[in-house]
Order: sequence, then C-alpha cells, then structure tokens
Amino acid sequence: MAVDVSALPARCRHRFPIFEHRVYINSCSQGALSDAVRASYEQYLADWDEHGAPWEYWVERSEAARATFARLIGADADEVAVTTAESPGVSALASALRFDDGRSKVVISDFEFPTIGQIWHAQESRGCEVVHVPASGAEIPVEAFEAAIDDETKLVSITAVCYRNGARLDVEAITELAHSRGALVLLDAYQALGSYPIDVRGLDVDFLGAGVLKYLLGSAGLGFFYCRRELVPTLWPTQTGWFADRDIFAMDLGDYSPSETARRFESGTPPIPSIYAGIAGMELMEEIGIAETREHVDALNDQLVEAVGELRGRVVTPAKRGALICIASTDAPALVAALARDGIVTSSRDGNLRVSGHAYNTSDDVEAVVAALARNRELLA
Ligand SMILES: Cc1ncc(COP(=O)(O)O)c(C=O)c1O
Repeated sequence: MAVDVSALPARCRHRFPIFEHRVYINSCSQGALSDAVRASYEQYLADWDEHGAPWEYWVERSEAARATFARLIGADADEVAVTTAESPGVSALASALRFDDGRSKVVISDFEFPTIGQIWHAQESRGCEVVHVPASGAEIPVEAFEAAIDDETKLVSITAVCYRNGARLDVEAITELAHSRGALVLLDAYQALGSYPIDVRGLDVDFLGAGVLKYLLGSAGLGFFYCRRELVPTLWPTQTGWFADRDIFAMDLGDYSPSETARRFESGTPPIPSIYAGIAGMELMEEIGIAETREHVDALNDQLVEAVGELRGRVVTPAKRGALICIASTDAPALVAALARDGIVTSSRDGNLRVSGHAYNTSDDVEAVVAALARNRELLA
C-alpha cells in the first residue's frame, strides 16, 4: 500500500515554528526546533532560577537521558555513557584500547565523518595502524571490507550512513565479517538514529556513538556512547574525569576507580541544558514514531529522486540509503544559497547538494525544492 505522505506532517509539523517562514529540509545537519525543545530550555532556566543548584535533580535528568537513549537503540541504560558529543565517547574508547597485543589495526571506511578518522589516526602515536576501505563509486561493498579486515584488526569503525553522499553501509554483514576475524565493531549512528530504527542487539555491534542534534531533534552539546555489557570491565579509559568514577561524589583525589558501568566512558560535569533539550527531542521522536518516519521519508525521497531525474540532474545517493539525498552540482554552495533565497534550507558537502527530509516535511516541500532546482538548472551537474 502506498504511504500517505500527509499523515505524519499533519500530526507533527505544527510543533516546528520554522515552517511558518521556511521550507526546512536539512535534518542531516540539524533537526528543526520544536515547541517541546524550546519549552525544555525554558524549564532548565526556571529550575535554575527557582532552586539555585538542584544538582540531585540534574543528575537524575542525566540518568533519564541515558535511559531514553538506551531505549532508542535497544540497549540497557548501564551500557550507555552520556557525553557532550559523539567524539568524546569514541576518544574515551580509543584511550582504553591497546595496540601492542598483535592486533594493532583499526579499519575505517572512506565514508566516515572526519572526527572518526582523526580520532583513530591520533592513536598512531600509540602504535595503531589505520587502514582505509575505499569506496567504489558511491558505495562500499562488503567485499572491500573482506580485503581489509585480518587477524591483526582490533576494531572496525564504520558509519551507518555517509554524511557526504547518503549511502548506507551493510552494517550487519560487515559486523559478522569483523567478528568472524576476531575484531570489534564501532558504529557511528549519527546520520541514522531517529531516521530509521537501530537496534544494537540485532546489529550485534560492540560500540555505538551518536548525538541528538539531527534526526533526534535535540541540540548541540549532548552525545552518547554505547558499550556492550561484557566489554565494559575489559576497557580502562585513560581519557576520563570525575563523572566516570565509581562514586562520583566520593571526591577521591588519590585514586582512579572507573564506574562498573559504561559511565566509565564519561568525563566531567554533564551538559545539563542540552540534556533537557535532548530528552525533549528524543521523546518527541518516540511519540512521532521512527519506523513511520522511515516509511514517510522513503516516499518523499522517491518523489525527489524521480523529479531530479526528470530535470536531468544526477542523484549521487545509491538505492541503499539513509534519509539523506545528495544531488550533484557544479557549485553546491551557490545552489544552497540560491535555494536559501527562495526560503529553502538545505546544505552541501563534497560538491553535492544535501536534501534531508524528516517526519515534518511534506510532499509540497519536495515540490518546492524541485521547482527551485528547475529555476537553477545550470547549477545541476
Ligand atoms: C556521521 C557523523 N558522525 C559524527 C558527527 C559529529 O560528531 P560530534 O558529535 O563529535 O561532533 C556528525 C555530525 O555532523 C556526523 O554526521
């Protein structure tokens, strides 16, 4: 049965005031601001004003954020660290790995976000060898990982969806392959979470990092890191801080005793304002429905891909994709600027226009993008 693309926006679009004056179709960069997230920031200020320093409550909010994120990825709360972005969780993991035990390689794909490459290359000074798996055109087949993962591989670090072209990697197959060769798997789920269901047990990944400011509708300043329960006690992060300690309020200056849970991947004071917003965003996405959002955005993207074809433009995103559609341009920043003059918010990367719909976008939004592309036909490659 065809998806009714008016059903989801009819339920939720009114909660995002930006649509009163813009066509916002850029959730791969940042989710639109909802009434719920705005209210959560106001609540943070009200609580601060009313109580002064309600740290017990604020630590409880941090636990609520942990539990909400855990629910979203099918993990338990004690397998999740609350961080300030994705990078600190991945860096804490890197700091806990040793590379002098015969497994010195970290295999990454050329689809990774820069922070992933930078964190693993930073470990070269500690004996790590980083192996890049190259793309073949717009995709990276599992066979390319076959050639790169061997019995010296410690970790395979892959993204679920490429931020540059929207391609989706075959996470299950790559994970199975990595495990069969004794390597661990870290999934960067930032471009996926909130746009389609992710389940760490089903995928069988060992670690997962993400933040909340894109399809999870939160804002900057909050990220999460998942570590499979059995692995937590085997990892001893040296990038750390007092919120990673077994007893945060022991205030023990003379010892390092990391938490028995994944909290050992945390560091300092949690980002309380972003936690208020992150909970509001994640709960709103749960209310809207992530599986429904996937179907909805797939239908909008079919409409977009077909229309770009009719304009004789070139969609570079392969059929196996996330929510993001990338369109080749002769001058992507100029195309983003041209669309912005028509009140349409998109973004660009790597010579491509990025268009990323979400639950709140309508078929009319896609039509507006297509009409603007037609008016700027000379900027399509
Ligand atoms: C795939 C991917 N990973 C990671 C990040 C950002 O990581 P961090 O939260 O450390 O800034 C982004 C942000 O754009 C991303 O698209």
